[in-house]
Amino acid sequence: MPPTLSAEQIREVNTRYHDVAADHYDAKWGIDFGPVGREQVLAKVDKALGHRPDGWARSLEIGAGTGYFTLNLMRAGKIAHATCTDISPGMLHTLRANAERLELDVRTERVDAERLPFDDASFDLVLGHAVLHHIPDLARAFGEFQRVLAPGGTVLFAGEPSRYGDRLARMPKRAAVALAPLWRRALRARPAIADSDAAPDVELEGVVDVHAFSPRELARAARDAGFVDVRITGEELLASWFGWTNRTLEASAAPDDVPWAWRQYAYRGYLMLQSLDRTLLESRLPPGVFYNLLIAARKPRA
Ligand SMILES: C[S@@+](CC[C@H](N)C(=O)[O-])C[C@H]1O[C@@H](n2cnc3c(N)ncnc32)[C@H](O)[C@@H]1O
Repeated sequence: MPPTLSAEQIREVNTRYHDVAADHYDAKWGIDFGPVGREQVLAKVDKALGHRPDGWARSLEIGAGTGYFTLNLMRAGKIAHATCTDISPGMLHTLRANAERLELDVRTERVDAERLPFDDASFDLVLGHAVLHHIPDLARAFGEFQRVLAPGGTVLFAGEPSRYGDRLARMPKRAAVALAPLWRRALRARPAIADSDAAPDVELEGVVDVHAFSPRELARAARDAGFVDVRITGEELLASWFGWTNRTLEASAAPDDVPWAWRQYAYRGYLMLQSLDRTLLESRLPPGVFYNLLIAARKPRA
């Protein structure tokens, strides 16, 4: 059981954990800024909203990490002026390097999601991916998203773990831990060195993830802050089982010893199952069984 930490300690551990992760983050999670990444992000945005958006003039991303969502949406021509924020200076450093390489002009600011240093009504879109579950006081954060959005503005978050989906994903993770020594032997890979600078402390994972949501709880957080037209969807079931199995195996080995062919198999297999989930399962099963939840809502005009 991870120790009970105060909100301030959770923020501090999140900063430390993600600072260490920043350099290897894109490689570890297969983050792409080419056509594959762009299509993935657009598909998530379409799914969250229920339609393809025209685009937004001013966006604010919370917990932007290395820029996966905003940079891909800018490349797709969906965002004109972007502000990317994160609590981790290391992540923002990698994001700026990615933006420079892609020749994108982005404003960055180190910010805690619960205290946004921006004027009221100064954005048309507040967005994020895989960040809400790290935020200690979600009600306060949603209150801030509401405040900085212009009337009629959109709030959109994807990649949030669902409580039930997260429980289901523990099975492949456990199986992978048991299989890891055999798998390493087959691939002639050495075990990972626990205190390597490149490997964020896995013990901290249980501390940085402070929520897994039911669809109803996530919807309530938005409604209580005054949002309307709240829409919750779910994605990734088979893809998440496959992905967690492979990531757990890979994390057990020295990164340089994981063969390129294995990484290709893991990446392509994940994309294939993602599309199977999308076409076969997402319209048939309730959002709560999927690993990831998406939420979109609107700030009222009046
Ligand atoms: C799982 S990563 C996701 C990064 C990026 N959105 C992506 O999808 O690749 C979560 C991010 O949230 C940031 N974060 C954690 N707690 C935060 C907080 N209280 N306020 C702002 N950002 C936070 C972390 O530093 C990290 O970059």
